[in-house]
Formats: sequence, C-alpha cells, structure tokens
Amino acid sequence: MKRIKTGITVIDEITGGFRTNRCMLLTGDAGSGKTIFGLHFALNSCKQGLNTVYVTTEEDADDLHTQAESFNWDLDEYMEKGLIRFVELAGIRARLIEAELSIDIDTMKGNFSKILQNIPDDTDVVVIDSLGSYTAKLTPYEFRDRFDHLVYELKQKNITSLVIIDSATSNEFNELALFSVYGAIKLMKRENPYTGRRERVMDIVKMRSTRTPTQFMTYEIDSNGINIISGFQK
Ligand SMILES: Nc1ncnc2c1ncn2[C@@H]1O[C@H](COP(=O)(O)OP(=O)(O)O)[C@@H](O)[C@H]1O
Ligand SMILES: [Mg+2]
Repeated sequence: MKRIKTGITVIDEITGGFRTNRCMLLTGDAGSGKTIFGLHFALNSCKQGLNTVYVTTEEDADDLHTQAESFNWDLDEYMEKGLIRFVELAGIRARLIEAELSIDIDTMKGNFSKILQNIPDDTDVVVIDSLGSYTAKLTPYEFRDRFDHLVYELKQKNITSLVIIDSATSNEFNELALFSVYGAIKLMKRENPYTGRRERVMDIVKMRSTRTPTQFMTYEIDSNGINIISGFQK
C-alpha cells in the first residue's frame, strides 16, 4: 500500500502517511491549524516530486506564501519547478455570490465538482482549503450527495487529497463527510483538566487499514509548523 508522508513527523511515524488515491478529511475550529496542516502536506508532497495543487477559497495565495515563510518553508523552488500550484477560488466565489442574485441558485449551489475543473490533468495531490465556502443553503442530504461525488471524482482521477472543512460547517451537516472518506483528522482546543491550561489536541478519528492512536495527541504550532508533543506511542 503506497502512502505519502505528510511532513508532520509523528503522523508519518505512526501511520506511514496518507494512502495514495484516497481522500483524507481535516476538520477543526478557526485558528486550529488546518491551513498550516494543509501547507505541511502540500509542501511535503511536492518535495516527494508529486504534482501538487493547493486550492484556496478563503485566503489568497500571497497570504499562504507568507504563512509558509513564517516557518522558513521555501515554496518558491517548487513553484518554479511547477510542482506546486495555487488555485485561488476566493475571487471566483465572490463573483458567484454576485451572480446568485440573478442566476437560478440550483444550477450552482454546492457544485463541488466545479473545484476540480480548475485542476490540471497531471495532478497527483490536491488540498482543498476549504470546502466550507461551497456549502451554503445545502441540506445535509444534498451535502452528502455532493461530497460523495467529489470523493469519487478525486479517486477516478487518481488524486490523493486532503479536504479541509471548518468544524462549524462539519457539524451543520452532522459530520456526514466522515463516512465517505478514507480517513479523518480533527483539530481542537481543550482545557487540560490537570493544568487548567488550554492546549491544542488532534484526534485521528479514523484511518482505514491503519493503526491509529486512541488518545488525543497534543500538538503545538511552533517555528517548524505543527509539532505533535504527546499522546502517542511509536
Ligand atoms: N509562525 C508561527 N508560529 C507559531 N504559531 C503560528 C505561526 N503562524 C501561525 N501560527 C498559529 O496558527 C494559527 C493559524 O493557523 P491556521 O492554520 O491558519 O488555522 P485555520 O486554518 O484552522 O483557521 C494562528 O492563529 C497562530 O496561532
Ligand atoms: Mg484556514
């Protein structure tokens, strides 16, 4: 079974990385580190020579670049080689919202496949950050339907993917996306009952055919990005 290392050391040591041609789901609150996780995985994929596309719907590519630079991750080298490409859908979304005023809403609401139309054929890895921008006005049933279709299309195209959904959106749809994916990781903040201090924790909710820790893993965001510090056994 082939896997792609994420660049987050402990995850790679425990799981071996993300299974190729499968979809991983990443959920979490605002500020929990979803985008940083996505950048970690994207950078590590292109380091392994894989054609990587980062679809951003909320931030522009410049901001992601700045975020990567704050960890001394050099994206330029890989951008020049064409190994990593950023697709900005923020502007398109803004235009869609404008258009919604005049166009029949049903023709585009929640059409996740539109996201893939912007991706070159030779793509190996895709990060979608985030799908939350595309779910307005969907019922849970419609969401599940479109999400399943997206997962199916990604697999048909032999793409390994990380799909990011903020926890508010995920909860709105009863976490239905969890059932369609190969694996899912959740990022949270919680209060440590012993120290009374807030800490960041990660839950590997599921990963098919893989041994995963039952405990929450504590992580920090430091000068190297996401760094898991406890809650795992190698
Ligand atoms: N260079 C850095 N060093 C330490 N922490 C950082 C750094 N850059 C960002 N962070 C932390 O990461 C958070 C943002 O993470 P992000 O991945 O954008 O969250 P999300 O996408 O889940 O909303 C910031 O609020 C900050 O706490
Ligand atoms: Mg983000």
